[in-house]
Amino acid sequence: MRRVGAIRHLYVHVPFCAHRCGYCDFVTLVGRREEHAGYVDALLRELEFERELLGERVETIFVGGGTPTFLAPGELVRLLAALPAAEEVTVEANPETVTPRLAASLRDSGVTRVSLGAQSFQPHLLAVLERRARADDVRRAFYHLRDASFDNISLDLIYGIPGQGTSDLKRDLAETLALAPDHVSCYELEAKPGTRFTHAHGAELAQQAEAMEGYFEQVVDTLVGAGYRWYETANFCRGGRVARHNLAYWLGRDYLGLGIGAVSTVGPERWRNTPKLGAYVRALAAGSPPPRELEPLDPWTRGRERLMLGLRLDEAVPLAEVAGVLDEPALARLERLGLAERGTDSIALTRRGRFLGGGVTAELMAETPAKTTIAS
Ligand SMILES: C[S@@+](CC[C@H](N)C(=O)[O-])C[C@H]1O[C@@H](n2cnc3c(N)ncnc32)[C@H](O)[C@@H]1O
Ligand code: SF4
Repeated sequence: MRRVGAIRHLYVHVPFCAHRCGYCDFVTLVGRREEHAGYVDALLRELEFERELLGERVETIFVGGGTPTFLAPGELVRLLAALPAAEEVTVEANPETVTPRLAASLRDSGVTRVSLGAQSFQPHLLAVLERRARADDVRRAFYHLRDASFDNISLDLIYGIPGQGTSDLKRDLAETLALAPDHVSCYELEAKPGTRFTHAHGAELAQQAEAMEGYFEQVVDTLVGAGYRWYETANFCRGGRVARHNLAYWLGRDYLGLGIGAVSTVGPERWRNTPKLGAYVRALAAGSPPPRELEPLDPWTRGRERLMLGLRLDEAVPLAEVAGVLDEPALARLERLGLAERGTDSIALTRRGRFLGGGVTAELMAETPAKTTIAS
């Protein structure tokens, strides 16, 4: 059954990049300039197919990638013009693509928020990550966006990079704070086993894994010390500028995803579009929806996801939404250890619990296989 008019969050995937960074495991395609227009056509056809699922009022749109700002300029403008109006419209941008002209065109197209992938400001770490942008490109892009009146800019950083030490991270955080972004996302580097990157940096990655907990504390202490709100495990904001789109995921709301590899969660169903560009474009050109993998979602699964994602936030999760998936004796034990807190009708992790993160959440889930107990 189609849930008409219920969805208020839209994700649009633009897979194209100028080159592939070694650590990246997202659905991306290098170059393919001649295929950008056809892809935008297909995205807009998919939007038409699913339009009835969207509510009259769309709250958030996130155009992510890949590198949306690598799209041929006319194509990005055409895409943005065809999307429904929304209260928050975020576009992900790679620093080297941001010119004064691009910044102005994003603003004129109704974009309200830009998420800029800095990752690091240290030349040796950017080289390890195989990034195109240098520190100067990040700073220049940031100021072009500010000059175009963007008052909601997020910077992405990565830590745990082979060759990194605490002093590198200290410098990256200082460089970030010097720009005074409205939002910062700080991710642990994830390196997929079996990839060229993992093969090249295996020993260093193992060393970095040992240091991860310390880096995490350094990130939180520095950003909170500078006045940012640590509102989600890896996300910080000031002036109330939470990432509303991502917040919708963490709160377990339904969302529609368009484009190759995009995921949608709608009531009792989740689907993932084919990651193959050709199959996606051909199906939509022929007037059919793209090939998709469909996964039924029962209330148990949605409840577990709600608990897992909700506890990443600094706000409490209502017990009514997770009561069926909560392991009550485990909650009592974690309260005694000072890791979780039960309010009258909600549950949250303490600061220490949030640092331990996933391990604590796993404990709280009823009937989790092979539970390990967290030592006090
Ligand atoms: C999908 S990327 C796209 C953004 C943009 N193309 C860029 O490279 O900046 C979004 C963010 O995910 C994070 N990211 C990507 N791959 C990651 C990895 N292997 N480990 C941790 N974070 C990663 C980066 O911080 C990046 O800015
Ligand atoms: S530019 Fe971003 S999306 Fe593209 S390969 Fe690099 S990290 Fe991945």
